[in-house]
Amino acid sequence: MQEAKNRDWYKSMSFYQIWVRSFADGNGDGIGDLYGVYDKLEYVKSLGVDGIWFSPIYPSPNADYGYDISDYKNIHPDFGDLDQFKKVLAKAHELGQKVIMDLVVNHTSDEHPWFIESRKGKDNPYSDYYIWRDKPNNWDSLFEGKAWEFDETRGQYYLHIFAKKQPDLNMDNPKVREEVKSIMRFWLDMGVDGFREDVINFISKKEGLPDGLFLLPAAKGMMQYKDGPHIHEYLAEFRKVCDSYDCFQLGEGPMTTVKSAMKYLTGPTKSLDMMFSFDHMMADCFYTEYMHRPFSLRKLKKAFSKWQYALDGKGWNALYLENHDHPRIISRYGSEHFWWESGTMLAASYIFQQGTPFVYQGQEIGMTNIHLMSIEQYVDVSSKTNYYTYHLKEDPERRLHRIHLSSRDSARTPMQWDDSKNAGFSSVRPWFYVNPNYKRVNVAAEEADKNSILNFYRKCLKLRKETPALIYGRYKEYFPKDKNLFVYERSLNRDVYVIVCSFSRLPVKLRLPDNYPESEGELVLCNYPEESMEERNARKGERAQFKKDVDEALERVQEDLESFELRHGMLRPYEARVYRFKDDN
Ligand code: GLC
Ligand code: CA
Repeated sequence: MQEAKNRDWYKSMSFYQIWVRSFADGNGDGIGDLYGVYDKLEYVKSLGVDGIWFSPIYPSPNADYGYDISDYKNIHPDFGDLDQFKKVLAKAHELGQKVIMDLVVNHTSDEHPWFIESRKGKDNPYSDYYIWRDKPNNWDSLFEGKAWEFDETRGQYYLHIFAKKQPDLNMDNPKVREEVKSIMRFWLDMGVDGFREDVINFISKKEGLPDGLFLLPAAKGMMQYKDGPHIHEYLAEFRKVCDSYDCFQLGEGPMTTVKSAMKYLTGPTKSLDMMFSFDHMMADCFYTEYMHRPFSLRKLKKAFSKWQYALDGKGWNALYLENHDHPRIISRYGSEHFWWESGTMLAASYIFQQGTPFVYQGQEIGMTNIHLMSIEQYVDVSSKTNYYTYHLKEDPERRLHRIHLSSRDSARTPMQWDDSKNAGFSSVRPWFYVNPNYKRVNVAAEEADKNSILNFYRKCLKLRKETPALIYGRYKEYFPKDKNLFVYERSLNRDVYVIVCSFSRLPVKLRLPDNYPESEGELVLCNYPEESMEERNARKGERAQFKKDVDEALERVQEDLESFELRHGMLRPYEARVYRFKDDN
């Protein structure tokens, strides 16, 4: 198959994202580290993924938990050292896993030696490594107030699109670009297999840094640096470095549109193999999770399909529902009441789309948002800013609720390995709060249950890997207006798969495309297991708790759950099915 050749190897892969600080503590200080990672590599492999993306593991003062880097060619002492990283890399490779690193070059930490030098004065050799001005423009920072901070020593303002402790690098300076290439070579020479490139569409700023014209909430100025004037030239330089290695590049593209992404992914300006887009992260919010609105399946489907159709045969999608920047998906697009049902269904809703799936640590066991009691308990800079900046007239409880719904910290709690103290994450008190649901939601418990969310992820990833139609096949969506069902098809050479996902907490009628009647399909995967009567009754017992909370209508329909018709013509709450059809037409 053409697509599978050479540098297209990433297409058939799937990835696991590790945010090391909360993954596994190997040396007993309460902080996840590379010793813990080393011990868990077999687990990662057991999921059926083929690669790992490490969120930044470099030295960092942690103003933005690793995304503020003070040394690009080293490992954070909390996580280990370069030797330990090399051990992890070697073992990952032995296990057949690729490893990609986070490349964060829009900004550094203000504690990076370049910035320490740069702020000393205009005649310092590092003077132009950053963006200095006598007068600020009107841009907003995405994390902390305005985008400019006055520096007493230098007597000028520096630009920071993110936190104050994250000064933006001046990518127009060729020396800075040489530094980036040197960082890339450093890790590629060590053997890493590629990069996830942080906010890469922001690195080239419009000449003269003009005021922002459009009023995006808290993002004034973005149009002056998103897809900036020299972005494709700079990325071509970076691409050239990668071209001499067998590696790939994945760019994070906040606020990117299909149209602008195509320039990065296709044609003469192709510089990236994939991009993380954000449209499908807005089905319950307006631009950012902090502007919450009720979940709309139709919005979600529209976003999915837009990217699927646009990139088909031209580019390649990076598929994800979670990462370290977003709250947990069950708490957003699924239901914590229907935890297992929605957790499994959500897996099927994206893993079988066209693209390379990413699974974020804890997603595969159905971890959910943590509900902390006070804003003081949150550590993420953007959560705090949002709490203290917006909706100030609302009562504190309501404002805290917004943070429950939106905070990145919701997805940064320690990984839940078992039901022992600290969820098996650490022998001592972890650096951050463990979600109290760890007694029930944990790896060990789910290993032991063949129908767990964990084992369903494994089934999905395995099925995808074994099925060319589910990797390379064309995507087609059915019933886009349906408010309950997401139905999509993947087809390759007459091998057709139809994936049906119910997003409803009530039973709904199964809908399949006219040309693919259920009677002709082979059910190859379903999140609901074939149950014995006993198991079924046990499940009914578990549901009794929340059953009380739902309205009478639900109760009436719940009774139907038992019925024969339901078994055949209806989908149970959050049911997901994958059918296979042989297309003889
Ligand atoms: C990206 C990262 C996020 C970070 C930001 C600034 O969006 O994923 O975690 O805060 O860039 O580096
Ligand atoms: Ca540790």
